[in-house]
Amino acid sequence: MKQNRISSLLSLIVLAILTASCYNDDVEIRTITEVVTETDTLHLDPVLVSQGKEVFRHDTFGDEVFWTDVLHIDKAILGQANGGYGSGVSPETALAVGLKVDAEAIPVEVAAAILAGEVDLTDPATTIELLRLNSVVGVKGTFNNAGDMTAVGITCALCHSTVDDSFAPGIGKRLDGYPNRDLNVGVIISLTDNAQFLADLLHVDVPTVNAVLNGWGPGKFNAGLTIDGKALKPDGSFAANLIPAAYGLQGVNLATYTGWGDMVYWNAFVANLEMHGLGNFTDHRLNNASKFPIAAENNFGNVQNSPDLITPKLPALQAYQLSLNAPTPPQGSFNPEAANRGQVLFNGVAQCATCHVGPTFTDSGFNLHAPDEIGIDDFEAERSPTGLYRTTPLRGLFARSKGGFYHDGRFATLFDVIEHYDSHFGLQLSSTDKNDLVEYLKSI
Ligand code: HEC
Ligand code: HEC
Repeated sequence: MKQNRISSLLSLIVLAILTASCYNDDVEIRTITEVVTETDTLHLDPVLVSQGKEVFRHDTFGDEVFWTDVLHIDKAILGQANGGYGSGVSPETALAVGLKVDAEAIPVEVAAAILAGEVDLTDPATTIELLRLNSVVGVKGTFNNAGDMTAVGITCALCHSTVDDSFAPGIGKRLDGYPNRDLNVGVIISLTDNAQFLADLLHVDVPTVNAVLNGWGPGKFNAGLTIDGKALKPDGSFAANLIPAAYGLQGVNLATYTGWGDMVYWNAFVANLEMHGLGNFTDHRLNNASKFPIAAENNFGNVQNSPDLITPKLPALQAYQLSLNAPTPPQGSFNPEAANRGQVLFNGVAQCATCHVGPTFTDSGFNLHAPDEIGIDDFEAERSPTGLYRTTPLRGLFARSKGGFYHDGRFATLFDVIEHYDSHFGLQLSSTDKNDLVEYLKSI
């Protein structure tokens, strides 16, 4: 009896608070993004996060065995004049293929010399100095006692970080988790003088390898190529997916466009099978020779290395990735009134929130959908063990709009995405509605 009275008293208090807050101006004036950001409360061990940051930015997991020993990318960077082959990679060339430079790793006197035009940005020797300073984002040089560069490897930051251009275009402070949509991964790999290795792996000839590598374009990579050997989409165009955001993944279930596994699974996959680091990796699904012929032939589902340079680093890497909150859209980058109207549509008649559930903006629970549910072809979905597409977490869209939307960038603008849903779901949105939805998407 007594308990009942207490609980009804409690309900009354809660009701009073709720009623009051409806009339409370403070609640009314909060912007959408402020409300959303409040949910990022996962408490992470700061020591683990800083270890993970080091791994994300600087750890090659021993992948020099691939990028140096097999592909000879170190020699391509050096150029003939410095003991390598070809013309070498000058800073100008490096920036042109989308590589970024961490301004904070450059000593002030060197920065001043660059600004004064006293540094030759057309000379590969300058790139070697930038590598010595550990300032080329995601590319790590190894130097011997004599000061010569003897190897290079790559890190996660190569594709999943960019810079804020605060010093110069392509040179600035690191922005981890932002996809580098300028980076032309294919062109960088094509610097190899050993494309024969890739040709043998894929059972094609060297000109085909080079055509494929040059066909991806900036901001894209075909992670499945060395698994299933599929280089072309059914329409004959080059298959490659946009490098996704590595921020805003707290609370997200399956990772990648086609839900290969969770984030930790995929981290191990990439470190072993894409970067070619030296770790352990198990996935019996890759033993399926009809679906994954290249992986099955090369036993990519059963990788073992001793010592294992990857597995012990996975917890820290995960902590760091989870610490990367989606960036808040800058003021003025969207129209707040339109965004508020768009939010109502998103959660209501446009049906977006039936899959993109805030604050993660992916489905809670099983976040994969059949291709026909979202009205697109099944080519990329069928390359994954799932056969499905993962509902993309939408936060920080404003920082990854270059290169388009959907896994392969098939929609150039957010408006095009809305048009697609409008016709696929028969939503009959007015053009104002469509614009409002776009403004909302830009605001989250
Ligand atoms: C060569 C470029 C490249 C490198 C290096 C790279 N990634 Fe990726 N990453 C991609 C691409 C492309 C995808 C999308 C794969 C797909 O779905 O087809 C991706 C997907 C991901 C995802 C899934 C994101 C999501 O929305 O679910 C995570 C997490 C990730 N990478 C983490 C890492 C980590 C950690 C490393 C280092 C161990 C790394 N990546 C190295 C290109 C790269
Ligand atoms: C049935 C589930 C579902 C519904 C409903 C849905 N989406 Fe999606 N959405 C997805 C999936 C799955 C993808 C990934 C498609 C791909 O990458 O090929 C996606 C991708 C997107 C993207 C691209 C993100 C990027 O970075 O590439 C945007 C933007 C988007 N949806 C917005 C919306 C809006 C706005 C609505 C409502 C009009 C909506 N979605 C309704 C499942 C859904």
